[in-house]
Amino acid sequence: MPLVTTEKMFKQAYDGGFAIGAFNVNNMELMQGIVDAAKEENAPLILQISKGAREYANVKYLRALIDCAIEDSGDLPIAMHLDHGDTFEICETCVNDGFTSVMIDASHHPYEENISLTKQVADYAHKNNVVVEAELGQLGGIEEDVVGVSAEDVMNHLTDPDQAADFVKRSCCDSLAVACGTSHGAYKFKSEPKLAFDVIEKIGNLLPGFPLVMHGSSSVPKEFVDLINKYGGNMPNTMGVPEDAISKASKMAVCKVNIDTDLRLALTAKIRQVFSEKPAEFDPRKYLGPGRAAIKEMVQRKLHVLGCAGKADICR
Ligand code: G3H
Ligand code: 13P
Ligand code: ZN
Repeated sequence: MPLVTTEKMFKQAYDGGFAIGAFNVNNMELMQGIVDAAKEENAPLILQISKGAREYANVKYLRALIDCAIEDSGDLPIAMHLDHGDTFEICETCVNDGFTSVMIDASHHPYEENISLTKQVADYAHKNNVVVEAELGQLGGIEEDVVGVSAEDVMNHLTDPDQAADFVKRSCCDSLAVACGTSHGAYKFKSEPKLAFDVIEKIGNLLPGFPLVMHGSSSVPKEFVDLINKYGGNMPNTMGVPEDAISKASKMAVCKVNIDTDLRLALTAKIRQVFSEKPAEFDPRKYLGPGRAAIKEMVQRKLHVLGCAGKADICR
């Protein structure tokens, strides 16, 4: 089936108390690992491409890989999403390139500017049957060249629920990424992992039926960090969002959960392991292959955490 927007999958996710996994793609191994997992689990899927991914891989190559994925995955509902678009122009280009969903992340601008830029993108995208994710509040960690707030400070920059309700009405966005204590990357909390479920709940109550998005939702599994460190890596004091917290949010108004770091960890751990155990190996297929298999396994695990495994049929 052709690419879909997120409209139907979000409606089903909201009503059914699950969330859709949105996985970042940068190359063929990531694409194949993710799509194979979704096929095996019969899960709806969001493939997301960041500005950095567009530059790294050349968006034409990624688009061609997505076309292959569509052909290869039968009638799996798949959306192609721009992750963290920061200007009208990049969103416009993606709409014209056939993306079915774009994110305009204007959260670092003053409130009124965030609204007007989001509205400008929404007006253009909606004319072209493309849906729009916006962001309000400040996440932690680093995304592209924008440095978010520090892990210690995320709880002081949460999305204001009343502002969120006003923002959604005035900006005409179709979903909203909220700051609820998560950060991008592998160092999300200094001590105790904690999410502001009260913020999610309050926004959910003020905007019934409206889909929320949770960025920075990797759980940074210890076994992969341990493998990386065992085989020469240096990643001390990592901390992710516990999987039970992700499951809890997925049962609330959160309909889209963004995961990138966990896939990076899976790929890196396996490559390091091969390099360390077989130092004479120089065939990329012999280290990227195990990496791809680990990505697939990781995504399958996530689809169960989010509750969207087996939900492809109702999202079509
Ligand atoms: O939110 C950021 C995503 O993890 C994408 O990362 O901008 O390095 O591709 P990237
Ligand atoms: P993680 O760094 O937790 O995987 O978050 C990814 C993300 O939010 C992409 O937009
Ligand atoms: Zn993000």
